[in-house]
Amino acid sequence: MSIQDQIKAELRARNAVLVAHYYVSGDLQDLAQESGGLVSDSLEMARFGQNCDADTIIVAGVKFMGETAKILSPEKTVLVLDESATCSLDEDCPIDEFSKYCDQHPDRKVVVYANTSAQVKARADWVVTSGSALKVVKHLHDQGEKILWAPDRHLGHYVQTQTDADILLWQGSCVVHERFKADALQTLKAKYPEAAVLVHPESPQSVVDLADVVGSTTALINAVKDRNESTFIIATDNGIFHKMHEVAPHKKLLEAPTMGEGADCESCAHCEWMAMNTLDNCLDVIKTKKNEILIDLTVAKKAKESIQKLLDFTA
Ligand code: 13P
Ligand code: SF4
Repeated sequence: MSIQDQIKAELRARNAVLVAHYYVSGDLQDLAQESGGLVSDSLEMARFGQNCDADTIIVAGVKFMGETAKILSPEKTVLVLDESATCSLDEDCPIDEFSKYCDQHPDRKVVVYANTSAQVKARADWVVTSGSALKVVKHLHDQGEKILWAPDRHLGHYVQTQTDADILLWQGSCVVHERFKADALQTLKAKYPEAAVLVHPESPQSVVDLADVVGSTTALINAVKDRNESTFIIATDNGIFHKMHEVAPHKKLLEAPTMGEGADCESCAHCEWMAMNTLDNCLDVIKTKKNEILIDLTVAKKAKESIQKLLDFTA
């Protein structure tokens, strides 16, 4: 039996569901889809886990995605494929330091990106994802609120330019998106003038400035599917190409460059933590029930309030 069939059989036997992010390997994305689970962005992964009637949720992604699933579904068992698969944004925002920063600015609504620990979410008033940040911040700005934003300074800056809100920025960044280079992207654009440029807003402002579309992973996939161009230059983790090829098999997809002035690698547009998710550890985790996500109940209860606000707001 293939490893995929073994995993499917284990999922059925344990009433478990596999939920995968667009950045994990194509074989895991396919398996999640074929087995009745989901492959999606971080917002829809959270929503799906909460609404499904499985006893166990297996998360192929990074730790914060597993924590969000557990916070929203405390009665379910949540397992991640590798416990050390974290995220630079999560790591850049330790709770003690962050909490102190919030205490220094009591006049601001605390809005944090989903790529944070359960403790940071519990300290926040709102949790947002890249697909919902603009809408939430615009809503708060319209109500006259000032904002403390964490942890991604690039996404926060982008939201600031789009909403004109008064935003104080925590200085975290994504190690993958930060490496896209505007100079080299200009050169590639000149070579393919007919191409549309799609950029995830965790990228630096100089790269966002060159974009035809700025959006979440789902928004970028929809752009490839729906727009008339036949060539696209894409500034996000290259794991997303799997889904893009599936929805638009005849379109030409090019990676936005990570080389050029100041570069430390030539093609590094893949998250090392997302890459820790494999079919082998998926099978192992289902069989052994290892890597279970457990969260302190008080933290989980508080974090749930800020995530639920987002789910209700974007329903
Ligand atoms: P999305 O919410 O767009 O899926 O992004 C998650 C992420 O980790 C991007 O690097
Ligand atoms: Fe975090 Fe960046 Fe990896 Fe997304 S791609 S999980 S933001 S390090």
